[in-house]
Amino acid sequence: MARPAKSQFVCQNCGAVSPRWAGKCAACGEWNTLTEEADVVAAPGSGLTRTSKGRVVALETLAKTADTLTRIPTGLAELDRVTGGGIVPGSALLIGGEPGIGKSTLLLQLAAAFAGAGRRAIYFSGEEAAAQIRLRAERLGLSQAPMALACETNISNILATLAEAKRPDLVVVDSIQTLWAEALEAAPGTVSQVRAATQSLVRYAKAQGAALVLVGHVTKDGQIAGPKVIEHMVDTVLYFEGDRGHAFRILRAAKNRFGATDEIGVFEMASEGLREVANPSELFLGDRLATTPGSAVFAGVEGTRPILVEIQALVVPSGLGTPRRAVVGWDSNRLSMLLAVIDARCGISFAQHDVYLNVAGGLKLTEPAPDLAAAAALLSSISNVALPPERVYFGEISLSGAVRPAGHMLARLKEAQKLGFKQVLLPAAGELDKGGLKLALTRVAHVMGLAEALGL
Ligand code: TYD
Ligand code: MG
Repeated sequence: MARPAKSQFVCQNCGAVSPRWAGKCAACGEWNTLTEEADVVAAPGSGLTRTSKGRVVALETLAKTADTLTRIPTGLAELDRVTGGGIVPGSALLIGGEPGIGKSTLLLQLAAAFAGAGRRAIYFSGEEAAAQIRLRAERLGLSQAPMALACETNISNILATLAEAKRPDLVVVDSIQTLWAEALEAAPGTVSQVRAATQSLVRYAKAQGAALVLVGHVTKDGQIAGPKVIEHMVDTVLYFEGDRGHAFRILRAAKNRFGATDEIGVFEMASEGLREVANPSELFLGDRLATTPGSAVFAGVEGTRPILVEIQALVVPSGLGTPRRAVVGWDSNRLSMLLAVIDARCGISFAQHDVYLNVAGGLKLTEPAPDLAAAAALLSSISNVALPPERVYFGEISLSGAVRPAGHMLARLKEAQKLGFKQVLLPAAGELDKGGLKLALTRVAHVMGLAEALGL
């Protein structure tokens, strides 16, 4: 006798399962994200309820040299950089990002580049009609690319199409949240649908050796299941980020089974699609007004690539009981910590001031080395004196006020010199062989010496 399908409540944000409905997910703390879904595991005939006799699998050793990892260069240098040298056949890659950030554009360019190199690429779109995609391809100058296109959301139809077609090298599915399997009662975009669709696509990719690229929308309100719920099923997770007000788009790896996760890819959204940015520093510093108080250039490193970016601070007297602190592109806790350290160690208080800090160009800084540049910008703004325009800053500030060394010092210096900077304010600690660089170095050991070094 068939049991009535048991239902459960699944958080659309983190995928946590709970037997009862609640307003707030106990696992991730998001509100209104729990929806009722049929319990797939308990469904009769799903294979998991039956006890079957197992098959003996062959055990292998670690030392195996025969099959080295092959990677297919994508034709987009920035994407190759982030994935660690190209896409691996038989792997699954997830690109997450907010709607409108440019995921479909990037993947259309990727599929066209694949097809242009004589490989088979199939693009399944569940969001746009073929006419819309053709229009976009025309705008990108890719109308003649020999790629295959289909608009489909039913997972069985997609798998049937893939089984029928000659084995493709690349399969793009845009987006995973539009797919649905008939066997499941839940609506498209729910955790069980997204998981089931991903599972069958990943299985297909692994069996056939095709590279699978999935698009996953990130939504703040949890109306659809986010990429988080399938991150563990795929080999590589990339996030496409950026501010829609800016043209820059950053591709960042969150997980990569085939390489490092610290490289970033930089693109610029132009009228003819995403343009690769080989030298991001030039762009991030492009429209800098160097003579304004509160502006300092940070010599940063993302992965192995140096990137110079402007940090802007604005410190104004506050009319509020609790002064405002607002940060764009940096960790707000880090700013609070920095303000406390400057107050405690230098005696300069920001308690009566609103503090705004902005990383220009829409870049998000994740390393701790911007501390010194941020401190310089803050001190410059509160004293209303502009810093020398041809100077860059880097270094981490600890709670004791000591300035700690940062990694890749030489790479930072070289990039600064390349872009025409003359002076560098950097930590006193840390070995450094300046080589042939013509930069004037000022080394600071403690924040107490910072104001003096800045000439404020
Ligand atoms: P899209 O790739 O559709 O985003 P997603 O798939 O992540 O939702 O890109 C959407 C935005 O990109 C759209 O608002 C317009 C802009 N755009 C350009 O500026 N230039 C272009 O050449 C293209 C194709 C899009
Ligand atoms: Mg899209």
